[in-house]
Amino acid sequence: MTSPYQQQYEQSLRDPEGFWRTPAEDCHWYKKWDKVLDDSNKPFYRWFRGGVVNTCFNALDWHIQNGRGQQVALIYDSPVTQTIQKYTFAQLRDLTAQFAGVLMAKGVQKGDRVLLYMPMIPEAVIGMLACARIGAVHSVVFGGFAAKELATRINDAKPKVIVSASCGIEVNRVVPYKPLLDKAIEIATAKPQSCIIVQRPQQAAEMRQGVDWDWEVEMAKAQPAACVPVAATDPLYILYTSGTTGIPKGVVRDNGGHMVALKWTMKAIYNVEAGDVYWAASDVGWVVGHSYIVYGPLLKGCTTILYEGKPVGTPDAGAFWRVISQHKVKALFTAPTAFRAIKQQDPGGKLIANYDLSHFKTLFLAGERTDPDTLRWAQEKLKVPVIDHWWQTETGWAIAANCMGIEAFAVKAGSPTKAVPGWNVQVLDATSKPVKPGDIGALSVKLPLPPGTLPTLWNNDEGYLNSYLKEFPGYYKTADAGFIDEEGYIFVMSRTDDIINVAGHRLSTGAMEEVLADHPDVAECAVLGVEDELKGQVPVGFIVLKAGVTRDPAQIEKEVVQMVRDRIGPVAAFKTVTTVKRLPKTRSGKILRGTIRKIADNQPYNVPATIDDPAILDEMQVALKRIGYAGAEKKKE
Ligand code: COA
Ligand code: AMP
Repeated sequence: MTSPYQQQYEQSLRDPEGFWRTPAEDCHWYKKWDKVLDDSNKPFYRWFRGGVVNTCFNALDWHIQNGRGQQVALIYDSPVTQTIQKYTFAQLRDLTAQFAGVLMAKGVQKGDRVLLYMPMIPEAVIGMLACARIGAVHSVVFGGFAAKELATRINDAKPKVIVSASCGIEVNRVVPYKPLLDKAIEIATAKPQSCIIVQRPQQAAEMRQGVDWDWEVEMAKAQPAACVPVAATDPLYILYTSGTTGIPKGVVRDNGGHMVALKWTMKAIYNVEAGDVYWAASDVGWVVGHSYIVYGPLLKGCTTILYEGKPVGTPDAGAFWRVISQHKVKALFTAPTAFRAIKQQDPGGKLIANYDLSHFKTLFLAGERTDPDTLRWAQEKLKVPVIDHWWQTETGWAIAANCMGIEAFAVKAGSPTKAVPGWNVQVLDATSKPVKPGDIGALSVKLPLPPGTLPTLWNNDEGYLNSYLKEFPGYYKTADAGFIDEEGYIFVMSRTDDIINVAGHRLSTGAMEEVLADHPDVAECAVLGVEDELKGQVPVGFIVLKAGVTRDPAQIEKEVVQMVRDRIGPVAAFKTVTTVKRLPKTRSGKILRGTIRKIADNQPYNVPATIDDPAILDEMQVALKRIGYAGAEKKKE
């Protein structure tokens, strides 16, 4: 007899149209699809072609029609402002409709882009849903990015309107957002027509006459807007994510497939029902925030939590337990780094005992591999299943997970368990051939990808093909390396490109190298991710100065650190850089980043046969010791 998981998984691959038709029936459509999966233009696939929907209607209005109007939809819990505010589905719908009216009054129409650069305040959620309501395409930019990164996204998305706030609050530091926004608009070549600014009491923003509009004032004047029916294949949002260069990729999400898939995951993966309280402790600027603070829980009819705080320091390492107990959270989703931060400050988990966690059923972790230590600590202290799951901005939801609403498997430390239904995950060698169980290769997904995944990159079909589909024809390249064991458990080992994961935030070392190389005294540089106890990985830079530079290297190092903060943002966490005479390279001139990383991580390494001059590795060891990394001895791997 096949198990429930096996049965669903096999059906999803054998008959994807039949499989996804059932959850699609669980959503509201103005007009149903002509075809569940349109594969007439391979390798581009479109889900629910011909369907007409509205994502905001499904997330709000439909629940009100079905009797959930008085249920709390959104809890804004902000320890940094001492605020807890609850919004029912009816209240959230009314505010969303009102703000949709504001956008329309500013000329926003179906298909126009609206960029949001927001802290974790309810207006961020309202702004996103308001765009969905009128068929505008939102693009949320994480608040920790600097003006230049914001400008790059403005130039690509060309928003008609930008929604922002006067400031964000980082524990007890007020971060003024408006000057960053003004600077970004100044640098950008594509200028928005209007900006709508939430004035927060902590710090008011200066407003530009005729361009900047106060959120409250505009809301008071607006007429509520009704939902605009859109094609299932129309874009809902663009979310920029780090690529291998300084130019981020605009991941596109459609309306129909996204709605169907996310709603389905709420039960299948997270095992929650309508009415349950679900909390993703992330930020609306990341994909986790899009999928599991805003859309997933609301589509399902859950109560979602918007938490403006940190796992520690707001006020202490018991913050998560306070939120879970106060709001009766059933499932929490966060990044392992948050648990490492808690564990560091409260190793014995003593603060847990102060709270009633009886409603809490499951902890979900993603964004980076859950290290076995963190897994065991969380299992032991919380006494609930701890579920690692693997996904990416591009996929919008989990590729691999222990599907708690289908069939729970035994957890294997270091593995996000098995491929979720819909995902035909294969490990390929360099010639696109599947390898044997247990052998490491490129983790890839046989096309078509399930609904809710990226259909393309914004205005860049060519980039989509080149980045994801070209290397392994017929497959989506995840750019993660790993293996699948005999029992089908997937192990994700590392990225195959220069993306690093810093505190669950995805960053490009290539983008940081571009900044370093821009310093007038820097001849050459390398940035790589090295292991970090708290953040998983942190970037470390090496610079070679131009011949004839006589300035103090320490001063130049300070300047490049500041440049990365100014151009990419504080989120890059780029704090360590050291000057070296030369970089280890192959004879063909490729920097040996892997070898440097191994020295920094104190792992055995071989002197690569292709190295230009082996003595450079000794110099690297000295340099790494200088900045606090142990420096491994040369060992055979
Ligand atoms: N706006 C402005 N600045 C921001 C910001 C925002 N929205 N988010 C982060 N920053 C700043 C931080 O203040 C910090 O600045 P600093 O260098 O002056 O200290 C810097 O960016 C790095 O932030 P972060 O990597 O978050 O480190 P941290 O030391 O502030 O906190 C953790 C570490 C582990 C507590 C934190 O990363 C965390 O809570 N992670 C939870 C997981 C998570 O959110 N994952 C996202 C994907 S699921
Ligand atoms: P992001 O697009 O920011 O979600 O980052 C995606 C990348 O984070 C993936 O390609 C992986 O490298 C990594 N990642 C996310 N979740 C996991 C996980 N559970 N285990 C291992 N790596 C993960």
